[in-house]
Amino acid sequence: MKHYLSKTFLIVVLTIFSLSATAAAKSFSLSHSGEFNTLLTLTPTERYLLLPVEDSAPEASVRVIIDGAQVATFTIRLAADNIDYVVPFDMQPYLGKQVIWDIHFPLYHFKIRPDRRKFVCWDFMVASDSYDRSNREAWRPAYHHSPQYGWMNDPNGMYYDALNGVWHLYYQFNPYGSRWGNMHWGHSTSTDLIHWTAQPVAIAPDALGTIFSGSCVIDKRGDAGFGKNALVAFYTGADQSQKQSMAYSVDGGMTFNTYSGNPVLCDTTPDFRDPKVIWNSKRGCWTMVLACQQEIRFYSSQDLKTWRYDSRFGEGYGNHSGVWECPDLFELKVEGTNQNKWVLLCNINPGGPFGGSATQYFVGDFDGTTFTCLDDKKEQKWLDYGKDHYATVSWHNAPEGRVVALGWMSNWQYANELPTKQFRSQNTIARDLSLYVDDKGEYRVAVRPSKETMAAKGAKTNTLSAASIVEIEMPAAKKNAVITLSNDRGEKVTMTYNFKKRTFTMDRTKSGKTAFSKQFAAATVVPLFKAKDTYRLTLFIDHCSVEAFDGEGAWAMTNLVFPNEPYNHISVTNGTCQIFEIK
Ligand code: FRU
Repeated sequence: MKHYLSKTFLIVVLTIFSLSATAAAKSFSLSHSGEFNTLLTLTPTERYLLLPVEDSAPEASVRVIIDGAQVATFTIRLAADNIDYVVPFDMQPYLGKQVIWDIHFPLYHFKIRPDRRKFVCWDFMVASDSYDRSNREAWRPAYHHSPQYGWMNDPNGMYYDALNGVWHLYYQFNPYGSRWGNMHWGHSTSTDLIHWTAQPVAIAPDALGTIFSGSCVIDKRGDAGFGKNALVAFYTGADQSQKQSMAYSVDGGMTFNTYSGNPVLCDTTPDFRDPKVIWNSKRGCWTMVLACQQEIRFYSSQDLKTWRYDSRFGEGYGNHSGVWECPDLFELKVEGTNQNKWVLLCNINPGGPFGGSATQYFVGDFDGTTFTCLDDKKEQKWLDYGKDHYATVSWHNAPEGRVVALGWMSNWQYANELPTKQFRSQNTIARDLSLYVDDKGEYRVAVRPSKETMAAKGAKTNTLSAASIVEIEMPAAKKNAVITLSNDRGEKVTMTYNFKKRTFTMDRTKSGKTAFSKQFAAATVVPLFKAKDTYRLTLFIDHCSVEAFDGEGAWAMTNLVFPNEPYNHISVTNGTCQIFEIK
C-alpha cells in the first residue's frame, strides 16, 4: 500500500523524533481482535501518545481501559492512508500503569477500509514527552484567538479575573481532531485580548456525557458551598439527553472539579442546553437563562444547585427557522439617555439572514423573573450581518461594567469543511456592546471593537498585509462607494456603500478558495441604520477574515475569506484610507 505523507507532516515527524530520542521506539503492542477491534497495550513512561489523523477518514471509537475499568472514551479519525496532522493524547494520569486501548472500527468504517492492519497510523504512532506546538498554517490568524490544534466552536464560560487582569476564554474543543466531536472545554488566557496563551483542557467529558456550552460566575459569597470567590462553571452534559451540570474551580479557573450532585437540572425537552448564569440584583438570587428548542427559559436559584422554573420567552417573536442556542441576558445603557434596557441574545441555527447560523437578539425589560420584549413581533435583529459570527456571549465580570462579547467566527453550514487542518476555527475580536436608537426609532445594539483590541493598532503603513487594521472615511454621495481588497492573483473582496439604497455589502464570491462548500461564496448586506454625511468604517483583516465595523457602532459584519495569497492592495473610490500594522 502507498503511504502519502505530506511535506509538512514529514517535518513534524522529524521534529518529534529529534525532540525525543525514545520516541522512535515502539512503546506499545498491537493485536487485531475479531473483525472490528484493535487492542493497543502500553505502559506509558512518556507524557503523550502522538496520534496520526486523517481528516477525511471515518471515525473509530476508543475506550481507554485500566484494570478492566473504562477511564476515558473518545472518537478519532486514525490515519489510514494519509497523515494530515498529529494530535497528542495526554497520558499523564496513566503513567506507569498498564493501559489497554480498545479501538473499535464500526461496520461502516470496515466497509470503506477493511484492512486496518495496514493503516499508516500504526507506523507513526509514537510516545513522546513533547508535541509539536508550532504554527504551520498560512491561514492561522495573527491576532484572533484560535486553538493551538484541533477543532473549536462556541466560546464558553468567559470571565475576567480582575485581580490579575486576565481574560479567561473557554471554548468547545475537540482535542482529537479538527472536526466537531468529543466536546471538552478548552481554555486560553490573555491579558490584552490580542495575544492568547493555550492552557490545558479545563473540563473533560465524564460519565454524564460530553461537555457542551455554558458559562461561569464568580460566587463571591460562596452560595454554592465551594468557598467564597469560587469560580462556578455551568455546562450541558450531553449524551442521549441534555442536562445541566456544574463544576467549580478554586484556583482561578485553571482546574475544575465536577460537582458530585450533577446533573442539577433536567427536562424532557431534547434540545435543552447552554446555561448562562447571571446574578439577578432585582431579586437577590441567581438566574439561569437556557435555550430550549425555539424558546428561552429562565430559572432561579439561591445556592446555584437547586433551580426553579420562572418563565419563558420566544413564542411568536423573531426568527424561528432553526434551534435557539447559546443565550445571554444583560442590561445596556441607551446611548445619549439615562435609560437602560435589557438585551436577550439568542443564537439561532439555521435561520441566519444569509443562511446557517447567526446571532439574533431582542430588546426589552427584565423584571427579575420575566423578559418582556419591546420589539415588534416580526422584527428580526442581528448582532452581526456577516455569515461568520455565531454563539456570541459576553464575559462575566468585564472591567468598568462594560458588556464585552465575542463570537465564534464560523457557520455550521461549512464549519467542518473549512480549508485548514491543524486547527479549525477562530473567534471574532472582542466587541463592546451598548444600545442606540436608529433612524426609525428602533433600539439596536451598537457594536464596537473593544478598546483592548484597538490597542493592537500599530504604526501607519502604505501596504496592506495579511494582518492589518484599516480606517476609511467616505462622504455620502450619489454614486456608490467601493472598497476592494485584492491580491496579485486577482482574488478580491468587494465592499460597496450604496447610498441610494442605504446599504453596505461585502462580496466574497471571488475572495480565493470558496469551492469547499456551495454555501460559502456569498455577499452579505446590512442596512445603514443611521444616515450620516460622512461614513467611517474600520476593517480588521487577519489572514482568513475581514470584520467590518461602522465607525459609530451602528452595525458589524464578519466574513471568513481564504485568499491563496494575502490581499496586498486596497482601493477606495471616493474616500480616504489609512492602513495600520498590528503591534
Ligand atoms: C452551538 C452548539 C451549542 C452546543 C454546542 C455543542 O454552536 O450547538 O448549542 O452546546 O454547539 O458543541
